[in-house]
This record gives sequence, structure tokens and C-alpha cells, in this order.
Amino acid sequence: MHGRFTIEGFGRHVPERVLTNADLEAIVDTSDDWITTRTGIKERHIAAPGETSSDLAVVAARNALAQAGRTAQDLTHIFYATFTPDAVCPPASSILQEKLGIQGRSAVDMNAACSGFLYALEAGMGALALRPGSTALITASEITTCRTNWADRGTCVLFGDGAGAVILSDKEPKPGQAVIKDIITKSDGSLWPLLTVKAGGSGWPLKLGEQVKEDYFIEMNGPEVYKNAVRSMGQVCEEIVTRNGLAMDDVDLFIPHQANLRIIEAVGKRLKFTGDRVMVTVDRYGNTSAASVAIALSDAVSEGRVKSGSTVLLTTFGGGFTWGAAILKFI
Ligand code: ACO
Repeated sequence: MHGRFTIEGFGRHVPERVLTNADLEAIVDTSDDWITTRTGIKERHIAAPGETSSDLAVVAARNALAQAGRTAQDLTHIFYATFTPDAVCPPASSILQEKLGIQGRSAVDMNAACSGFLYALEAGMGALALRPGSTALITASEITTCRTNWADRGTCVLFGDGAGAVILSDKEPKPGQAVIKDIITKSDGSLWPLLTVKAGGSGWPLKLGEQVKEDYFIEMNGPEVYKNAVRSMGQVCEEIVTRNGLAMDDVDLFIPHQANLRIIEAVGKRLKFTGDRVMVTVDRYGNTSAASVAIALSDAVSEGRVKSGSTVLLTTFGGGFTWGAAILKFI
């Protein structure tokens, strides 16, 4: 990699309303015991009516800016990962720019499903390499519940809403900040039918007056997604650790995509991460898609799970399929 990539601040925000497993028992034929055993999820935060992706992102962004000791005026770029933007057009990143009270900066939405945060981070690093001195907001924000089929017990228990954000620059890192040592992103489009949100896209256009059908919502083959998530996250973590001359023992904290505790434990077992070396937030937020590792990273910092010298390994997996990994070193 060329250049220095410093994460100056971390932020996150989740909606106020909490939906527990007991609440879900009243909506679909499920139980707290089934959800807890199969997924590790106890509760998730869900948006209030009218609350949008950019409403969450703006709070997460302000939190990250405050931690960095920066203002929105300092930003030159916004990279915004989401599959649930406020609208198809305009981009949520433009709406976010307006909400942050700035104008005339580069702003783009990116959709890499649950892997979006690492893709946005990599794009931000590219912008910094091209334009030294830039300062980028990298955010991932999802209202997954706007694409949740509340009649499908196989998916509706899994997801939650939330946003995470970081401030990326090429400045000399200060204590409490982190540098990105490496990043890898990958995709395999041959497996796309296994996890989809189709209707409303150009391949599945909605017609005026037509009833919304199941394909408007998240549909997936759970067991296949599970297998691929474990294999792909395991492989990409091994690749990035090896190519940086590290061993898994050198990693102080492992922050995997928060889809399901059993996936986290299976990847952890393959890579030999257990106990305190694994960041788990899925119990309290469910799967917040692109926002999941961004939120977990912010929580890891605010909860003191990282300290000066810590090496952190992030990994993601999502629809596409897409997946990736990154190594951070805390100063
Ligand atoms: N409550 C009660 N029973 C349920 C529920 C529910 N919420 N959902 C499914 N079941 C039933 C099924 O109907 C099935 O019943 P049957 O045997 O009578 O047909 C039974 O439970 C077992 O279903 P499976 O799908 O085989 O259950 P499995 O053990 O595979 O767990 C799960 C399902 C949790 C979805 C799992 O496959 C999984 O975690 N997959 C990964 C998917 C994921 O996390 N996707 C998130 C998006 S992608 C991403 O972020 C990576």
C-alpha cells in the first residue's frame, strides 16, 4: 500500500426503539429460545416511522467528527455504504452532506451489501492516495427493517438498524487513533441468488398500483449463506494476516461481521479466536448489514477493548457475495 491512512475518530448511532425476541414472538411463530440458540440475537434497534438511513448516519458522523476533534467543514469526501438509502435518487450521501451543513464535497453511495463498510474504507484510501491532504467520512448506515418481511420468520428475526462512521485522513496518527495496515475486498457474483432484495431494482421494476410481493424484501438461503460466510471470512483473514507477515496470535481483537453468533464462533474456531479476543455485538443489535463492523469497531474503542499497540482484524461478508478484511494498528 502507498501512503498513510489514519482513522482519527470512530462513531456510531442506533435508533431508540428496541425490539426484543419476546416482541417478535407476538409477530411471527418463533421463540426467544430458537432465536437465541440459532443466532445469539437477544434484541435489535429498529427505526421509528420516517427515520431514514441518513438520519442515523448524520449522528454517527457527528460522533466520529467529535472524537477526531474535527468539524464537518474539514471533510473533502463522503463514502457512504448502504443497501437501504433514503431514496433510489438522490444519493443518501448527498442528503447526508446537506444534513452535515456542508456543500461542494465529493459524496457517493456504495452498495456492497453487508461488506459495504470495508469497500467504502478502501475507496476512501484510494481518494487519499490520489489527493493527499484529503479528509474522508466513511459511513455505513442501514434501515434493514424497511426491507424486512415481518411475515417471514426465517429472516425477520435476524436484522436491525444502525450506523457507524470513521474519519479517515493521511495525517500523523495521535494516541487513540489507528492506522490501516492493509485491506482486501472480494466478490463472487455466481452466487448472487442466495441472498437478494430484488424488487425496485431495474431487473424487477415495480409498476404503479401493483402490490408489493416477497421479492421486495430480504430473501436468502440461510444454510448456504452460513457456509459461504464462514469459508470466505476464514480464507480472507488468513490471506491478509499471512501477507502482512503476521500470525493469528498477533491479532489482539477480531471484529467479524455481526450476522449470527454461530457464524462468528465458526470463523473464530477456524482462526483460533475465542473469548475476549472476539468482538460480539450481534446480541444487542442483530445484523445491521454494512453498519455491523463499523458499529462494532466504534463500540470496541469506546468500551476500551483496544489500547495503544493493539492489532485489530476486521472481516465482512454479504450479498453478492462480497467479502473482505482489514488490519488496523492502534497508536
Ligand atoms: N423461529 C422458529 N423456527 C424457525 C425460525 C424462527 N425464527 N426460522 C426458521 N425456523 C425453522 C425453519 O422453518 C425450520 O423448520 P423445519 O425444520 O420444520 O422446516 C427450522 O427452523 C430449521 O431451519 P434452518 O433454516 O435449517 O435453520 P438453521 O439452523 O440453518 O438456522 C439461520 C437458520 C439462523 C437463518 C441460519 O441458517 C443462518 O444464520 N444463516 C446465515 C444467514 C444470515 O445470517 N444471513 C444474514 C444476511 S447475510 C449476512 O449478513 C452474512
